[in-house]
Amino acid sequence: MCGIVGYIGTQHNPKEVLLEGLKKLEYRGYDSAGIAWIENNRTHIVKCKGKISELEKHVATINIQGTIALGHTRWATHGKPSTINAHPHQVGDVTVVHNGIVENFSALKTELEAKGYQFKSETDTEVIACLIKNELETASSFENAVLCAVKQMNGSYAIAVMSERKPGTLVAVKKASPLVLGLGKKECFLASDIPALLKFTNQVVYLEDYELASITENRVSYYDKNGTAISKQVHKITWTAQMAEKGGFEHFMLKEIFEQPQAIIHTLSGKLSPNQDAVELPIHNDFFKNTTNIYLVACGTAWHASLVGKYLIEKIARRRVEVDLASEFRYRHPILSKNDVVIVTSQSGETADSLAALQLAKEKGAKTLAICNVKESSIARLADEVLYTEAGPEIGVASTKAFTTQLLIFNLLALYLENTPQKEKILNLTRLPFFMEQVLHQAEEIKKIATKHYKKIAALYMGRDILYPIALEGALKLKEISYIHAHGYPAGEMKHGPIALVDSNLPVIALIPDDDFFDKMMSNIEEVRAREGIVIAFSQRPIPMAHHNIILPLTPWHLNPFLFALPMQLLAYYMARCKGTDIDQPKNLAKSVTVE
Ligand code: AGP
Repeated sequence: MCGIVGYIGTQHNPKEVLLEGLKKLEYRGYDSAGIAWIENNRTHIVKCKGKISELEKHVATINIQGTIALGHTRWATHGKPSTINAHPHQVGDVTVVHNGIVENFSALKTELEAKGYQFKSETDTEVIACLIKNELETASSFENAVLCAVKQMNGSYAIAVMSERKPGTLVAVKKASPLVLGLGKKECFLASDIPALLKFTNQVVYLEDYELASITENRVSYYDKNGTAISKQVHKITWTAQMAEKGGFEHFMLKEIFEQPQAIIHTLSGKLSPNQDAVELPIHNDFFKNTTNIYLVACGTAWHASLVGKYLIEKIARRRVEVDLASEFRYRHPILSKNDVVIVTSQSGETADSLAALQLAKEKGAKTLAICNVKESSIARLADEVLYTEAGPEIGVASTKAFTTQLLIFNLLALYLENTPQKEKILNLTRLPFFMEQVLHQAEEIKKIATKHYKKIAALYMGRDILYPIALEGALKLKEISYIHAHGYPAGEMKHGPIALVDSNLPVIALIPDDDFFDKMMSNIEEVRAREGIVIAFSQRPIPMAHHNIILPLTPWHLNPFLFALPMQLLAYYMARCKGTDIDQPKNLAKSVTVE
C-alpha cells in the first residue's frame, strides 16, 4: 500500500533522499508516485502515474534547493491511478501525503464544498489537505490545525504535512497505518517503513496511533492527541542497508527463497535451552496457564502458516486450536474469555484486518500473542507477548522466508506446550537448515518443469493432513506472481468437485510425503491420471506414474511443511519468470495491506 517518505535538513539532497526512499518502499505496491518540496516559500509538486522510474524522468533536470520535502507512492483506493490522483495533494499553502483510507471522506467533502472549497482529484487525501487548510485559518498552531483536522476523520491514516506558512516544520500523525521517524544530525527523515531510512540512519522513533510529531531540522517534538507534549523512545535498528538489497539475485523473491536456511537458524537462535532439550520462549511463564482455547488468526500466507500451526499444536501438544482468517474473525462475534489465547501472525505486523482482530481479542479480555517479523510493528506492540521471526527484511510481495520462519515458531510453540522432554524433535529442527539446502539444490530441476508448463492457464494443488495448507500456499504463490489461476485442495476432497476440472491441460501438483497417507495419495494420483491430468509429484520416494517427479529428503513429519513449501515457492517463481511478470511487485498486490 502507499509509501511515505519525508525529509527535512541540509545534510542530504532532498531529491535523492526521496527517490532512494521511495524505491525502497516499492515493494509495498503502488501505481503512481510524486514528490513535493518548499523552495523560497513556494510549494513545488511533481507527480505522475506509473513507476518511480517515470517520476525520475520528470525530475531529472530539477535541482531542489529547499530543505523540506515529501514523497509518496500511491496504491489507488479512491479514484483510479492517474497523475491528478497521485500524491502529494496541495490545497492553498498546505501539502499532504497520506497512507490509509478516510472512511467519512464523502461527508467531509460535502461540508468543505459548502464552505466554498473546490476539489481537483477524486481522492480522500485532498479532503485531508483541505481540512487542515481550513483549520489553519483559526488554529493556534500548525500542529493544532493538524490535530483538529484528524479528529474529524474516521478510518486509517499516516499523514505527513508541510505548509508554506511554516516552511521549517514537517508535521506527521498516524492512526492504524505505520509511520517511523529517522533521526540524523541536523536532519530528520520520515517513512512508512525502515528500509527507506536505513541508508541514512539507524536511529528511529515509531509513532503510535494518534501521536503527532512536529519535526524541524534540529529537533522533533511529540504530542498526544490532546496536544500534550510527550517523550518517545529512540530505537536502534540492527538490520543493515545491504540486507534490503538483491545481493546479485535477479529478484528479491529468489534471494529470499535461498535465505531460508539462514532465516531458520536466526529464528531458532536463543529459543532452546543450553543443552537443547527444551524450548525456551521469551514469553511470560504463566502465559498459557489455564488456557481453554487457542485461536490462530491471520491473513494470506500467515493464515496458511497458522493452519500448519493447528496440526502441530493439536498433534504434538494435544491442545484444541481454532484457525480464523482475520477478516472473518473480526466480524463473526467470536466467543472469547480471559482464558483464551489469540495468536495473531503477521510478517509486516501492520495488516489492517489482523490488527483489528488483535484489538478485538484484547477488548474481549483474551490473552494475546503476536508472531511478527517486523520489530516494533503495530501488531507486535499491541499484543501482550510477541515472538519474532528473525527472517530479516522481506521485500518480495510474495511471502517466502517469513512463512517458513512462522512454521518454525509454530513448531517451537507446539513443543513448548507439550511439556515433556523433546530432545529428538528439537534435534530435527536444528537439522532443518541442512535439509532445506538439499531441497534448494533442486532449483534447476524445478525450473525445467516450469519451462514446460508456464503457458497453462490453471493448476490444481493437492495435499493431505499437514501438507494440505502447503497445497493452499503453493496455489497462492502461483496465483500471486504468475497470474495463473490455481487452487489448493485437500486431496480427499478432489472427488467432491475439483476432479471435474482435470483434463490433459491441467497440471496437478501433488504433495506426497512418505507417511500413513502415501497409499491414499497414490489413489488420488491414479484418479488424475485416469482423466489425463498432468501429474507433477513432489514426494519422498519415486512416483513412477508421475509426469514429473521431484524427490525430497525423507524427514520427520513435523519438518515436512518446510521441505514441501520450498519447491512450491520455486515452482511459482520460475513459472512467473518464464511468463515475464513483475515478480517482486505483482499487479494489484501490496506487501503491507494497511487498509481493510
Ligand atoms: C503472501 O505471499 C501475500 N502477499 C499475502 O497473502 C500476505 O501473507 C498477507 O497479506 C498477510 O500479510 P502479513 O503477514 O504482513 O500480515
